[in-house]
Formats: sequence, C-alpha cells, structure tokens
Amino acid sequence: MSRDEKIAIIGSGLIGRSWAMLFASVGYKVCIYDILSEQIDSALKEILVQLKKLEESGLLRGKISAVEQHKLITGCTDFKECVAGAKHVQECVPESIELKRKVFEQLDAVADDKMVLCSSTSTMPASSFTEHLTHRAQCIVAHPTNPPYYAPLVEVVPAPWTNGVVISNTKSLLEEIGQTPVVLKKEVLGFVLNRIQYALLNECWRLVQDGTISVEDVDKVMSDGLGMRYAFMGPLETAYLNADGWKSYSERYADTIFNVAQDFGPTPRMEGETLEIVHNDLASRIPLDKLNERRAWRDARLAGLAKLKKEMNEK
Ligand code: NAI
Repeated sequence: MSRDEKIAIIGSGLIGRSWAMLFASVGYKVCIYDILSEQIDSALKEILVQLKKLEESGLLRGKISAVEQHKLITGCTDFKECVAGAKHVQECVPESIELKRKVFEQLDAVADDKMVLCSSTSTMPASSFTEHLTHRAQCIVAHPTNPPYYAPLVEVVPAPWTNGVVISNTKSLLEEIGQTPVVLKKEVLGFVLNRIQYALLNECWRLVQDGTISVEDVDKVMSDGLGMRYAFMGPLETAYLNADGWKSYSERYADTIFNVAQDFGPTPRMEGETLEIVHNDLASRIPLDKLNERRAWRDARLAGLAKLKKEMNEK
C-alpha cells in the first residue's frame, strides 16, 4: 500500500524516528536527514527493530508488514535532496531557537510554494523563528506527545501568518496517520499540553517541598487517582459528570477551588534541596542505569492502554 507521496524528516533522534514510523505506517515514502550521518544509520536500524517488535506484539499500526513499512523509510545525507518533492517536512532538531531558525532558513531556501514546513518544537511558537522567511505562510508547529506511537495527541499551532490551507492539510495528515490533532486558536508560550503539565509539576514540587507528601505518594495521586480519570476524558468533562453539569459544579465547588488556589504559593524553581530529595528518592527505586528498562515497562503499559482505548472507543 505504498503511495507516491513523500514526507521529509529533518533530525533523526527520538521524535524524528517516531514520526518516520507513523508516516510509513500508512504507506508514505519517508526520507530522513540528519546532520550526523551515523544518526541516520542508527535510526534506520532502530526503526526496523521497533517495527518488528510492534508486529510481534500485535501493535503495529497500518495494514502493511513491518518490513514493508521499513522499506518505505530511507536516509539521505543531502538536505536539499531529502526535502525535494516532499509534500510535508517535519523538523525534529533539538529544542534551541538558534537551531530552529537555522533549519527553517535552510528549508525556506529549498522549499517549493506548496510544501508544509512543520516543526516538532515542544514550546516555541513558529512566529519566533519564521517571521523573516519567504515561505512563512507554509510554516506551522505540530507538537507530538511522547511516545507518539501510543499517545496520539498532537498540538497544531499556526503562526499568525500561517495559511489556512496549511492548517487544514496538517490536521488532515495527522488524522490520516492515526494521531489526534488539536488546533490552537492562537500562539501561546509552552502551548497547552506543557502549560497543563507544568502546572501539575509545580504543585507536586510545592507539596514535596513543604513536607506534605512523599515523592512516591504524590506520583501515586496521579497514577492511581487523577490519571485513571483522565485516561478517557479531560478535567472539564470529569467535573461536569461529578456534579449535575457545570452550573451545578460551579455552585458546589467554585468557591472552594478559588480558595484552595489562593494557597498554592509562588512558582517554585526546580533546584536546591528539593531537587536532591526528588532525584535521590527516584534514583533509589529506579537507578539511572536502569532507565531504559523502566522506559520499556512504561511503553508496554501505554501500548496496552492505547489498545484498550481503541477497543472501548470503537464500541
Ligand atoms: P534528539 O536530541 O533525540 O534528536 C535531535 C536530532 O537532530 C539528532 O539526531 C541530531 O543529530 C539532529 N540534528 C541536530 N542539529 C541538526 C541540524 N542542524 N540538521 C539536522 N539534524 C540535526 O531530540 P528529540 O527529543 O527527538 O527532539 C526533537 C524536537 O522534538 C525538539 O524540538 C523537541 O522539543 C521536540 N519534542 C521532543 C519530545 C520528547 O519527549 N523528546 C516530545 C515532543 C516534541
């Protein structure tokens, strides 16, 4: 089920590899470029291992085999050649404004008038690195959630000058590969996922810092409490169901929520004594040389959850 359309990936680290697998799963020809040629080689090898593992465990996406999907992905050490003829370019270089500027200038120099120039940046609005470009109307952000194969949400964030067709094409492409795009109505620093994540991290930090709860237990509040609720629906719908709709929720809880929120205190810096406490507590349970095993443990559970969600939501 190969199609004669090409996607270019710039940067073949963790996120570039994941995008390559997702695009190949529905038959796109994917070309990967990286500034380090050894990264391209290791990406191609690791992608094959990952695709085969997914196939063995029945979790491979798409209708074609792991080997066929892998055949659709090629590496290229020439930037211009990698991008030529692509309908969509997904930039996946490290999170640095200077690098994003540099790579988007390179893209601007070789882009045709149609290709979508899309960044995977986690926090930086496209307007902060595309304003001066000739092809700036073709630039947009698609910020994936890690690991993208199991957590399908993608934040699509247009710059003020992004063309409407580029927004709708990006959204359609993401839906086609099985991701869940949400389009932000305007740019905001940190986008939405990380703003919510940072609010959570800050409050967990404050509660450990002031001695209210242990590191292990605050994580349990999420994994066995809030996280369970939020795996299938968001906090606004959860609250709606927890009373008789939002008006009733507001009558019952709005004052309480406001009063508790007044007690949150200033934004903490994640450093100093609390950093030692948080790090050492986790390192005593998950030593730094065992992170890959724990990541595999996490991914297996996320894969199971993704499967369950798919099955239950199809009913
Ligand atoms: P990474 O460090 O794993 O990979 C970056 C790759 O880019 C490396 O292979 C590097 O050799 C290559 N590279 C560096 N300079 C380059 C250049 N000038 N041209 C071409 N390739 C170049 O980084 P990762 O984690 O894949 O992140 C990539 C982007 O995705 C970042 O903007 C990051 O914020 C975003 N992102 C990362 C997530 C994560 O959990 N790691 C989640 C969502 C988005």
